Amino acid sequence: MPRLALLATGGTIAGTGDPQHYQAAVLDADTLFASVPALREIADWHIEQIFQLDSRDLQPGHWLQLAERISALQADPGIDGIVITHGTDTLEETAFALHLLLPLGKPVVLTAAMRPSDAPDADGPGNLLQAARVAATPAAAAHGVVVVASAHIIAGADLIKAHTSRVDALRCRAGSEPIGHVATEHINIRPALARSLRHALPWSTLGILPRVDILYGCAGVSADLPGLCATAGAQGLVLALSGHGSIPEAWRSGLQTLMEQGIAVVRATRITEGGVGNNCNEEDEIFGSLPAGILSPQQARVLLILALAANPRGDLRSLFRLAGGASPY
Ligand code: SIN
Repeated sequence: MPRLALLATGGTIAGTGDPQHYQAAVLDADTLFASVPALREIADWHIEQIFQLDSRDLQPGHWLQLAERISALQADPGIDGIVITHGTDTLEETAFALHLLLPLGKPVVLTAAMRPSDAPDADGPGNLLQAARVAATPAAAAHGVVVVASAHIIAGADLIKAHTSRVDALRCRAGSEPIGHVATEHINIRPALARSLRHALPWSTLGILPRVDILYGCAGVSADLPGLCATAGAQGLVLALSGHGSIPEAWRSGLQTLMEQGIAVVRATRITEGGVGNNCNEEDEIFGSLPAGILSPQQARVLLILALAANPRGDLRSLFRLAGGASPY
């Protein structure tokens, strides 16, 4: 039997209650594990509660805490794979951070649920069992961090939460496909393609993670928002802009001043498909902002936080080009 580790972090998968009395992160790791007896038939287990939170309350420091613990478990010869239970709300950020931080090693599988553990149609037990089966499959390791939900195996860098309430809310971003599926006891996983980004940022030496804010673009943006964020301590800004990521006139001069002061500015889009490429409005390029490529605003923020912490004077432009890939436009 393989030996797997279960790291529990909270979320609805460990939540209880009907919609009026719902609470995330109630069941502890041992209780969650005991609620799915079939897990014992798949592997021997090491079980750990690493933190117990509703994922909306996670901080960037939790990404590092998880990366550190997973990395230690990967180095442990007595462990063959790692399953992490997590809330769905910020799962895409944790999945992307772990994708950036962890080198390839043993299978690392995140899973979650949309229905609390005591709901009649709870999806957590099935997702946890399927995640365990994937973590016990050595071929999963070649894909890096993956997410298992509703029988789909999704690359950590491709995950989005695409619905606020449907049970199949966790999906692949537009233009990408699951890397595999779980068919009862059978794991269909395609061979790993070379992925564009395997940075293994030097997280063990990261100091304090900088504040990076997301500013949402819309008709009639308030001109003072970028300056307010900077005054409050932001060292980077990610703009979730309309259209193809072109900066509204009201923000231009303020952003230019902030960039001259060393604050990094990344242009992402609030539109779900297409991304922001290098060849949009020349003025945006000239004054030094960076295109996010296909990264969502929240993914771009994860990358900017980690990149600024790892190397404040580093070449952010090539890092974003590598991570965000080419946008089709
Ligand atoms: C959470 O993200 O922790 C709560 C919501 C969920 O898991 O679906």
